[in-house]
Amino acid sequence: MKLITKLGCAAVAAAAFWTAGVSAQGYFLDGSIIDYRQQIMRAQDANAAAIGMILTGTVPNENMLTHFEALLLSNRQARDIFEMEIEGGNAKPEIWENWDDFAGKLDTAEENLKLAIEEIKANGPGAAGEVAIAALACKDCHDVYKVTE
Ligand code: HEC
Repeated sequence: MKLITKLGCAAVAAAAFWTAGVSAQGYFLDGSIIDYRQQIMRAQDANAAAIGMILTGTVPNENMLTHFEALLLSNRQARDIFEMEIEGGNAKPEIWENWDDFAGKLDTAEENLKLAIEEIKANGPGAAGEVAIAALACKDCHDVYKVTE
């Protein structure tokens, strides 16, 4: 009997802990959301760095197209996760105060990434040129919406 009471208490404590950690939207811990969106941004970073290496001719260019496709996908993932209004990390609160502007920057990135992808598909990996640079305008957003240490 005592053991059952103890188990019951542990279950209630665990439930209370879980409830306290669940975000307003009822999904995950806020810290996990922040960690997750930073992972997505790091994926952006890895692909942008890889494209930089290709553009400078230090590595072969066969993967140019798929690096841009990967950027397009993680850009969409970023939009989905930033839609959840979880302040913290290095994300400025202005993101959710000026959501249309912030989302507009993700839309612009999406358009430019699609243009780069079309260009590469039509004319080969060496053709991305200026559209590639436009598609990598990450700083336009970071300057306004990311805390810089
Ligand atoms: C529309 C806005 C926006 C765009 C576009 C954007 N970022 Fe970010 N990025 C952010 C915000 C906001 C954060 C801070 C997230 C946080 O700390 O929760 C961030 C964080 C990061 C981080 C730090 C991740 C970490 O480990 O904490 C890196 C690296 C990064 N971005 C790279 C990029 C690259 C590369 C691109 C372009 C290919 C890009 N970002 C495009 C808004 C943007």
